[in-house]
Amino acid sequence: MIIVKGGCAVTPEGTIQADVAVEGARICRIAPDIEPGAGDEVLDAHGCWVFPGFIDAHTHLQCWTGIDWTADSFETGTRAAACGGTTTVVDYATADRGVTLPDALAEWHRRADGTCTANYGFHMAISEWNERNAHDLDVMVEAGVCSFKTYLAYDHLRLDDAETLEVLEAMAPHASVLCVHCENGTLVNALQRRMLERGITGPEGHALSRPADVEAEAIGRVLHLAHLAGDAPVNIVHLSTELGLEEIRAARGRGQRNIYVETCPQYLLLDESRYREASDDGLAGAKYVMSPPLRTPRDAAALRAALLTGEIDTIATDHCSFNLHGQKDRGRDDFTRIPNGGAGIEHRPALIATALGDELGPECLARLMSENPARVFGMWPRKGALAEGADADICVWDPSVSWTISAATQHQAVDHTPYEGFACRGRARFTLVNGVVAARDGEPTGEMPGTYVPRSR
Ligand code: URP
Ligand code: ZN
Ligand code: ZN
Repeated sequence: MIIVKGGCAVTPEGTIQADVAVEGARICRIAPDIEPGAGDEVLDAHGCWVFPGFIDAHTHLQCWTGIDWTADSFETGTRAAACGGTTTVVDYATADRGVTLPDALAEWHRRADGTCTANYGFHMAISEWNERNAHDLDVMVEAGVCSFKTYLAYDHLRLDDAETLEVLEAMAPHASVLCVHCENGTLVNALQRRMLERGITGPEGHALSRPADVEAEAIGRVLHLAHLAGDAPVNIVHLSTELGLEEIRAARGRGQRNIYVETCPQYLLLDESRYREASDDGLAGAKYVMSPPLRTPRDAAALRAALLTGEIDTIATDHCSFNLHGQKDRGRDDFTRIPNGGAGIEHRPALIATALGDELGPECLARLMSENPARVFGMWPRKGALAEGADADICVWDPSVSWTISAATQHQAVDHTPYEGFACRGRARFTLVNGVVAARDGEPTGEMPGTYVPRSR
């Protein structure tokens, strides 16, 4: 048995001073002063919060994105995740056009199985809508995939409105949730051309061609489509703007149900001034080329307030890492050629605990980064809960550790981090995945206990 001793356990019923005993891959007991027996391993949690392992429900590992492969594999990405306290990721398997959903799922298993430090599940991104894919939704649900994604931007991925409506309707019988990338792709294409015609070729053109209205219009449209489909469950991923939040408020105000909302650390902590960051190699701004782009401080403040009011359900990373040198630098003279995406799988708990921990408190941190993702994506209460009988995915969080994020010391397999120099308060002292210590003091132990998480809603 492993006994996590002396910490403050963040349970669904509240935060209590208690020890947590782990037998095999399950939590078997939570109680004050559990006496270790002979042969038991004791993990010292004095001064620590004992969280249910954090869940990152938005990653793109080992993925062809139409322009390049993401830099992190399942092996490096889930190892980095565990170092930061994340015990489960839900990655976007993507069925490119001409590929069936079962073939895409099999390919994602081939990439991930046997290599993961943290647990992993898969959403399925659908890039074309036809009878075969409609039929295969059931096959996906049988295989433990209860969430899908469609895009309203990116020409090689996006569906039109009628197709999006049909996807929402087809998912209704099994209550799957549709995650939607909300940007108006037609507008993005037109505004990109406009920027290039004006001679704006640097990374600032990325933000200028994807203004807040581009996101908000798409959010409003998707919410209307979901309403038309009988209040079908939708998850608005990577919400970045106050204007988009207003669309969500309006739909909820009309009584629409089954709307879930995700945001990411980059939209809470960084802002659009980063596109003007200077560096010797002239590449600094490219670090922040992700979609949606970074926004204004006012947007960030609105999202932070919405976390407190419960209007945002989950914080994920949208981890989609590309190296600056050899990948993002191909867009040096044309921002439209910079692969979109940023890194964050390792640092999300530390970033959020540092920037928002005092305001949110441990229970809210657990809700946003563990409990709610588990509930929305069909893993609760096996995951996302520090409870007897739950999987022994645990993050022992030491709030007293001060450290600084740096690409030089990170475990993400990418040559930079958008958070270089960020001073963190707090770090994962132990990360347990399925009852195995996978990371200690932010360093991997070398164990690879991560397993596939079949999910159902
Ligand atoms: O820039 C981003 N976010 N790339 C990843 C794909 C997506 O849109 O989620
Ligand atoms: Zn997206
Ligand atoms: Zn994404």
